[in-house]
Amino acid sequence: MGGVNPYIQAAKTQKPERPFKVTFQMEDTGEKIEVPVDPAQIPFGDHGLEGSLLDIAEGAGVEINHSCGGVCACSTCHVYVAQGLETCSPSTDDEEDMLDEAPAVTTESRLSCQCVPNGKKDLLVIVPRWNRNEVKEGHG
Ligand code: FES
Repeated sequence: MGGVNPYIQAAKTQKPERPFKVTFQMEDTGEKIEVPVDPAQIPFGDHGLEGSLLDIAEGAGVEINHSCGGVCACSTCHVYVAQGLETCSPSTDDEEDMLDEAPAVTTESRLSCQCVPNGKKDLLVIVPRWNRNEVKEGHG
């Protein structure tokens, strides 16, 4: 399952017009993975909104848990956008409702499948440790 959930309010997204960079930092190990994003390559996969942080992560082989397939129906893809949050699509009421179910929510919290950067700034995205643990368990 992936793509867009027809039963929720559409997110207002703006496609990037120039290349930018997303750095994913693993909260548990501190490891950083820099991912150059070429707007011409979007979408990278078929999970989450096109050009979302989950889509970008998938394209680069960065594992972020996404139990519902990226349709805003769980909260497992919760990440923190530590830099560049102001360049991301605003969260919808549906995303906020799902985030209410997530642990340790902060003002930087987003569902990575619903958060689409417009490319005007580079981003720093923290992948929470519990997310990483679930991914490891889920894939053995
Ligand atoms: S993967 Fe389920 S809400 Fe993002």
